[in-house]
Amino acid sequence: MNQHASNQSASNQPASNHSSDIRDEVRAGFAALYGYQPTSTWSGPGRVNLIGEHTDYNEGFVLPFAINRRTVLAIGLRDDRMARVSSSFADGIVEIDLDDLAPENVHDWSAYPLGVAWALGQYGADLSTVTGFDIYLDSDVPVGAGLSSSAAIESAVALALDNVWDLGLDRRTLAKVGQLAENKAVGAPTGIMDQSASLLGQKDSAVFLDCRNLDSEIIELGLEAAGLVIAVIDTGVSHAHATGGYAERRASCELGASLLGVNSLREVSVGDLPRARELLDDVTFRRVRHVITENQRVLDTVRTLRESGPTAIGDLLDASHRSMRDDFEISIAELDLAVETALENGAIGARMTGGGFGGAAIALIPAESLSRLQVAIDGAFAEHGYGAPSTFVVNAAPGASREP
Ligand code: GLA
Repeated sequence: MNQHASNQSASNQPASNHSSDIRDEVRAGFAALYGYQPTSTWSGPGRVNLIGEHTDYNEGFVLPFAINRRTVLAIGLRDDRMARVSSSFADGIVEIDLDDLAPENVHDWSAYPLGVAWALGQYGADLSTVTGFDIYLDSDVPVGAGLSSSAAIESAVALALDNVWDLGLDRRTLAKVGQLAENKAVGAPTGIMDQSASLLGQKDSAVFLDCRNLDSEIIELGLEAAGLVIAVIDTGVSHAHATGGYAERRASCELGASLLGVNSLREVSVGDLPRARELLDDVTFRRVRHVITENQRVLDTVRTLRESGPTAIGDLLDASHRSMRDDFEISIAELDLAVETALENGAIGARMTGGGFGGAAIALIPAESLSRLQVAIDGAFAEHGYGAPSTFVVNAAPGASREP
């Protein structure tokens, strides 16, 4: 989000250092801007998706985890009906009367927090009776890197407003609130994965989510015991899902489902692929094949993690990347280079993560191979004339929470 965050490469720092620094800055920033002390402080993490890409809006399976990069916000209640938001990365205060909240009335970055306030009203909050608020926020989740900086904001704001407005909504509902804000206020036709990871995540674990009914299970990753880390390789190539390829892919999946006579691609499996090949044009078939096989890879990854631990999931990560590169066609040259270079330099598995068309790859790698990986990635990108990437370790962290 802020400049210092995206330039902070190669740091293997514990989450707590990041968070407590940001927390103090956010409280001070709030007081400086609004002239009074906030009543509470909240945070929401970004996420890395371990596996299960473009399966969420097909009612399929995903296996993301919340990361130790967070949006932190301070909030204070007002005694009028104004909603005011500000942040460390944009000048000024954006304000709107709660009576005017609507997707078409919120713009730019403020569409995330104000969109959430609006969406809470769609999920039962009576916005005609609540009081206004002031929010100031900062984040060390890099923007456009495929690490869900937007879900980090949405989950922190949803949890904070749920508390100060005393709404009593559960975390699954707050995830839907965040998704609705993203879909309607921001205008990105995304699924439920990012907000679910950001709200349901737990330390050292991934969230195995069935996007059909939002049933979830916490799956221990066991990285430390296996001597492994997950490195994020941020290519620096920014993406946005409000425009372009993401919506096109979603439309292809919907077309594939309707030609196959099902409501969603969740209802078909690997055994249906021969029939799909007969019925669908080549492009639609390959989009469908990615989703069907990716759902199976998520199930296989969960089983393998349970039975054999993380050292055994490398091939599944690699197969997922190939499927996104060749069938779903959402990778880019920088991501492919990051994955190949990681695999040649000690990674036991690597794949792009997130929506694609830019953003980051992840590499599952023995902790002792990390510096070799960083040097190799920097060298490979320089050799190809690409912009400087940023490689850093992420830990699986708890979901959105109230800060002490
Ligand atoms: C983005 C979206 C998610 C999901 C992924 C792809 O992160 O926000 O809902 O669709 O892309 O897996």
